[in-house]
Amino acid sequence: MKCPQKSWLLPEHVSMENRSVEVPGFVCSSSEVREREHGICFRISDKNGSMEAFVVRFRGTVHGYVNRCPHVPADNINLDAPKGKFFDRLGRFLVCRRHSAWFDAASGECVRGPCKGAALFRLDVVENDDGVFWLGADEAGRAHGE
Ligand code: FES
Repeated sequence: MKCPQKSWLLPEHVSMENRSVEVPGFVCSSSEVREREHGICFRISDKNGSMEAFVVRFRGTVHGYVNRCPHVPADNINLDAPKGKFFDRLGRFLVCRRHSAWFDAASGECVRGPCKGAALFRLDVVENDDGVFWLGADEAGRAHGE
């Protein structure tokens, strides 16, 4: 089922060319991740292979997640549509466009929708004076807990 989408134009400061952060490291500059605006998408790798991830800024803090809805994780459904649009129109929650699940942007927990109580796969990301960085997979080789 395809949901109707409002037109969504990328702001000038965001480039959605293919970013690759397959190994831990730099994701983007801090100025690219604006409060409750577009998420920055990039690819990561762990022992299970390559996957898409994203960072968003919410209440001043950058949060990172795997771009895969926990409602039907085996189908690898991205939350965003169009690319980079993760927040609802009021900037309160991250939303999966497929079946409208709402996620707390700070914790990743689903607070409304078909997967209520499940959570997005959280990434270890940090922000410092040089930008936003993904810290990599854990000791078991996972980019996120499963
Ligand atoms: S696939 Fe995300 S809510 Fe159903």
